[in-house]
Amino acid sequence: MSIKLENISKTFEVSGKELKVLENIDLEIKDKEMLVIFGKSGVGKSTLLSIIGGMDTPTSGKVIVDGIDLSNLKADELAKFRKEKIGYIFQSFNLLGNLIAMHNIILPVILDVERMKKIATIKGLAQKIGMQGRLRHCPGELSLGEQQRVAILRAMINSPTIILADEPTAHLDIENSLKIIEIFEKLNKEQGVTIVLVTDHEAIASKFEHRFTLGV
Ligand SMILES: Nc1ncnc2c1ncn2[C@@H]1O[C@H](COP(=O)(O)OP(=O)(O)OP(=O)(O)O)[C@@H](O)[C@H]1O
Ligand SMILES: [Mg+2]
Repeated sequence: MSIKLENISKTFEVSGKELKVLENIDLEIKDKEMLVIFGKSGVGKSTLLSIIGGMDTPTSGKVIVDGIDLSNLKADELAKFRKEKIGYIFQSFNLLGNLIAMHNIILPVILDVERMKKIATIKGLAQKIGMQGRLRHCPGELSLGEQQRVAILRAMINSPTIILADEPTAHLDIENSLKIIEIFEKLNKEQGVTIVLVTDHEAIASKFEHRFTLGV
């Protein structure tokens, strides 16, 4: 799945003042590419990722996914696109506090006819990233790194075509970070999943062939 950003700008209004966060961004992410969005804190990485994922709209410019301009989609079409195609890993996880980890992970596929197969696959992945013993705990009983891995598993449950990952290794040690990157690489190579990952860590960014640097 290809993504094209054309002349994207984003301005927020804060206390009556305009805050320009993104200015005239052009970016092409080819089908089956692995791209890292790199830059310091506050440069607009999360803002850009949420625009790519159709969760926020740019002030001007276009987001074109597989030839379709996202601004032309109706709300329900956009919701369907997000549900079926995108696995989004939020920087702040967005887990439901009163559900155990496993239920957070399987929530997106609870009505899916193929859910048993998907749950079995995700249990295998959980094992690989050291989470198998933690799945019956609520987020409040998990460490930040464990919550982060729950958010990663949830993004993968629906076999997305694109994974948009906002600093998915920020709370992990280097060993676990590299395990996550390896899983992304495997999904990319074996299933052709397009990966867009945000980080401000050179050690993580250097694993990627394609890099887009914000804020220079
Ligand atoms: N909804 C909003 N309203 C007003 N300002 C916002 C909003 N969202 C983001 N900003 C501002 O836009 C700028 C970029 O924020 P963003 O979260 O995209 O940065 P980031 O590069 O992801 O930073 P970090 O590495 O710390 O996560 C910041 O100055 C932030 O305060
Ligand atoms: Mg951010």
